[in-house]
Amino acid sequence: MRATLPALLRCPRCLAEASFAMVEAVADEREVRDALLSCSRCGLTREVREGIVDLLYEPPEVIVREAVGLERFAETMRNDGWDGERIRELPDVELGYWQGQASGMRRLLATTRLEEGQWLLDVGSNTCWASNVFACRGLNVIALDIATVHLQGLSTAEEFMGRGGVYFERVLSSMCDPPLADETMDWVFCCQVLHHNDGEHLRRTLREMHRVLRAGGSLLVMNEPLRFPLRPKLGHGREVADYDGNEHVYFMHEYVRAARAAGFEVEIVGLAAARHGLDDATQAPPRGRLAPLKASLRRRRRGRSLVSAYRTARFWWAHAIRGDANLALVCRKPM
Ligand SMILES: C[S@@+](CC[C@H](N)C(=O)[O-])C[C@H]1O[C@@H](n2cnc3c(N)ncnc32)[C@H](O)[C@@H]1O
Ligand SMILES: [Zn+2]
Repeated sequence: MRATLPALLRCPRCLAEASFAMVEAVADEREVRDALLSCSRCGLTREVREGIVDLLYEPPEVIVREAVGLERFAETMRNDGWDGERIRELPDVELGYWQGQASGMRRLLATTRLEEGQWLLDVGSNTCWASNVFACRGLNVIALDIATVHLQGLSTAEEFMGRGGVYFERVLSSMCDPPLADETMDWVFCCQVLHHNDGEHLRRTLREMHRVLRAGGSLLVMNEPLRFPLRPKLGHGREVADYDGNEHVYFMHEYVRAARAAGFEVEIVGLAAARHGLDDATQAPPRGRLAPLKASLRRRRRGRSLVSAYRTARFWWAHAIRGDANLALVCRKPM
């Protein structure tokens, strides 16, 4: 933690903003490594250990169980050969899951106007790979997670920061109760994490994301798994049940409705491109066996509306009916 962070924090007990004073601090050239934070309003004391600020205050049992499960999962990863070197390559690792993360991030970076010096909260940061990507682009990043274990929690940040150059903050806390002052963030990033909430906590988390964002700031949702009427995923989470993950799965409309109810303007990523992308000069040329037919349709106005209708239908099929697409949203807090 750097000495600038407490000004952005909110006490998890009394909700006072910027109320933490630092005592007994031990620092190195990079940051404060060990310290006590004391709330000037309610007297709550919390620790900073190895640079990680512990603001996980009275966590519910479900969160404690998931954090302990991640320690077991980290052990499995170690046995599978995961180490710091492999972590530092993330997300460019030859595994299906990571290819999805890498392509999602490429799309996000190509379509989002991130600016140096802006503040971004990486919710459920896990290995902190995304915090590293954003920090490398000059953003001020806060990685937030319920776990600290190496390979599956906040201490993994050392793999990225240990070599110098990049820096980001690490805060131990729950997404439904982020210990940040109102309107402090320009961006909130959620990748494969919102589904670690039951319905009530999902709605609360989205309200909290809205609270911590500045007006005009956005919540960027990426790669959230979806449930579909023709693929209800009744066994979702079964394969990771041994690790006690707080797994849930929702329909797209449930996310969209909850985000709107929290006060966001919601854009479903990919839908506008499916509808209007044909007029876009950057549109890739058609491929495959039907490429000549597609190219000729695109040249005619009626042909373009036909292709646009086909693509839109295909988008809804993949995202809301039977497909297996993941969810990406841009949720903007209005000015
Ligand atoms: C599937 S991992 C996704 C991680 C990461 N965003 C990524 O893209 O690699 C889910 C992460 O969410 C974290 N998590 C679960 N419940 C949480 C909560 N209530 N608040 C904050 N983080 C949570 C877990 O500890 C885990 O690190
Ligand atoms: Zn307090």
